[in-house]
Amino acid sequence: MSVETRQRDSRLFAEAKRVLQSNRHTGRSPWGNRSFDFVCPSNVTYPFQWLWDSCFHAIALTHVDVRLAQQELLCLLQAAQPDGFIPHMILWEREKYLKQIASYSIAMLNDYLTATSQPPVLAQAVERVFLAGRDQTFLATVLPKAKAYYRWWIQHRDPDHDDLVAIIQPDESGLDALPSYDALLHMPTLDPDGLRQAMARLFGAYAPLRRDSAALIAADVFVVEDLLTNCAYAQGLRSLARLCRSNQEMDNAAEFDQLAGRVEHALVDKCYDEQRGIFFDLLGVAERPSGVVTVTSLLPLMLDNLDPAICKRLIEEHLLNPAEFWLPYPLPSVAANEPTFDAEAKTGLLWRGSTWVNLNWLLVGGLRRHGYAAIADELVARTLEMVARGGFREYYSPYSGAGYGALDFGWSTLVLDFLERI
Ligand code: GLC
Repeated sequence: MSVETRQRDSRLFAEAKRVLQSNRHTGRSPWGNRSFDFVCPSNVTYPFQWLWDSCFHAIALTHVDVRLAQQELLCLLQAAQPDGFIPHMILWEREKYLKQIASYSIAMLNDYLTATSQPPVLAQAVERVFLAGRDQTFLATVLPKAKAYYRWWIQHRDPDHDDLVAIIQPDESGLDALPSYDALLHMPTLDPDGLRQAMARLFGAYAPLRRDSAALIAADVFVVEDLLTNCAYAQGLRSLARLCRSNQEMDNAAEFDQLAGRVEHALVDKCYDEQRGIFFDLLGVAERPSGVVTVTSLLPLMLDNLDPAICKRLIEEHLLNPAEFWLPYPLPSVAANEPTFDAEAKTGLLWRGSTWVNLNWLLVGGLRRHGYAAIADELVARTLEMVARGGFREYYSPYSGAGYGALDFGWSTLVLDFLERI
């Protein structure tokens, strides 16, 4: 490693630590006088606690202070509901940011919690935090809520019992305006106002149904068996099984492993397009393949078990294809040859072509798991270079590496894993 690279890496390490520190919020909330201590995604744009962001923050924090990593998850789990549901946002300091809240398109469960969830990467975070500290008390404390959360997905989001879970809102995947969802969202214009109007229409249709999961799906307004959600779910179930084993819960471990196997199988069986050698989200109760190639079409690489022939096609025909994903700063969130591709979010809509650190992180893990270490290393190198150029931002241009969106963005600190070669 050259001196310049070493200096760059130590700068990135120090900056990541600074972001995690400066985004930390602590205090007491009027929400039942609970105390909070968490890292927000960005102080200016996103001053609350988000579910999947917090899971990524906890993973990044294992490089800084394992106690803080534990705290991040313990704080999040205060929002877990008796039926296992965990909301995608906790508005701890709601009163301080009312104007900000008014600008979001969100549906609420109560004044402080949203009514929808986010990709189930909780067990992956619990596993990383547990492995970093081997703290059995921490594990025993968080495991019941983690198990209940994954059971919530089974019980509430798989009414057709095909082992794939469904999301009911675009932001529930964490990928708000991913073009795969266009066919269901019907945005009147491709811009933030068009998205707001589409969300308002969705919320109107859902208003009488909010408390009834089966009715929300049966209404068939926005139902997606989403690749990111299901890959996160399957991978999370594997983590959960290992965690159960570490807590001497052998029956639960077997149950979660078995379910993970079924989800992995269903993903290939129902979402894989043999002709094109890639995966598609399934839209609506009728499960129509979206036909849109996005970075989530590659995410089955995250799975523990994937046919090596499928891995090879995903990587050689798509991930490494310069017409699709292998741009100077990969991986763009949408394939570059899709008509909707918008590399620098010129439409003002998110997840339509820019590169995001968390998805690269998920795919680096997948590439390593399936024996593609050299490609994983190259993706790591380009991601580090991108963050060094663009700073810790929300998303990046896949062409120039320039950073866009929120400043000091939390989950971009996942590069700490890359710096420590995990
Ligand atoms: C954006 C992202 C979402 C994330 C949130 C907070 O809305 O699309 O995935 O959780 O910001 O960072």
